[in-house]
Amino acid sequence: MRVTGMDPGLRQGDNRYSVVVLAKAGTPFDEGQPMARRHIEFIHAQDLPWQTEALPGPLAALDCKTLSHDSESGACSVILRFPPGWSRPTPEHLTAAQEFLVLDGEFEIGNQTYGLDAYGYLPAGHPRSRQASKPGAVILSFFDRRPDWMPGTATTGGTGAVPYLNLHEMPWTSEGVDPELLKGRVLVHKVLRHDKVVGSKTLMLNASAHAHPPNWKQRALHHPCVEEFFVISGDITGPQGIMTAGAYFWRPAGIAHGPFGSRTGYLAVCRFVEGHHVNIWHDDDLPYSYTRPYAPALPEDLRPLARGRTIAPY
Ligand SMILES: [Fe+2]
Repeated sequence: MRVTGMDPGLRQGDNRYSVVVLAKAGTPFDEGQPMARRHIEFIHAQDLPWQTEALPGPLAALDCKTLSHDSESGACSVILRFPPGWSRPTPEHLTAAQEFLVLDGEFEIGNQTYGLDAYGYLPAGHPRSRQASKPGAVILSFFDRRPDWMPGTATTGGTGAVPYLNLHEMPWTSEGVDPELLKGRVLVHKVLRHDKVVGSKTLMLNASAHAHPPNWKQRALHHPCVEEFFVISGDITGPQGIMTAGAYFWRPAGIAHGPFGSRTGYLAVCRFVEGHHVNIWHDDDLPYSYTRPYAPALPEDLRPLARGRTIAPY
């Protein structure tokens, strides 16, 4: 195996690398083994129901699609839908860190307005003097534990806030992209957040159309951390089928994946959590095709919901 895309300060002989890979490399998801968040790869958000009471406190009244959920900590990845005129006019804070991207509409926290494709990472305890959505909003949101809302200002809070990014104003770059992934395709990213201590990294990814591995084959790879993915637009084809807008996966550490490519290009959010992002490439080439049947890896309760999607509207 070859290791690329490694974070600075993390070498192959590093204990963090060795322990994680030896323990989990190639291990398929087993529903009988303890695992806080289950392997979901992949499901389209359109196939998931809007629910209320999914989250505690004031969030319970909102329409919510739960993409994945940690039954132990309450951490979750959700799509929240705020109705027009929604308002929380008094100071509050959350006991969880919230990372979010506005998919539709507009949202306000304090004096900051978050419009389409605006991003924020607000650690636990981050002050929220007021919150509102005049036109309504749909927000892709990641909570790192159960998001309990508390009145007033927190006495302590997390660090590393990214209070506001307007993604439309950020340049694309291929700097830092694994060279293996640049072979035969254009792939660029915007780094929205990177905690170099714990390794959490969030990217916006964009691949060009006709982005496939050279000679229609490439090796699989895995990471010693979780990879989480949400497709905003376009298509990505991999071993589990064709992901289009709304597709989501939560892939635990150590699971082999790929090769991937895109016939029409794509825009997607990618998160690496619960460890440092390292690409560990396997030895053997695997065949690649833009046409693959939908063959997801899903927990039993999600299987009846998952229908997959096709990209051809004609
Ligand atoms: Fe990956």
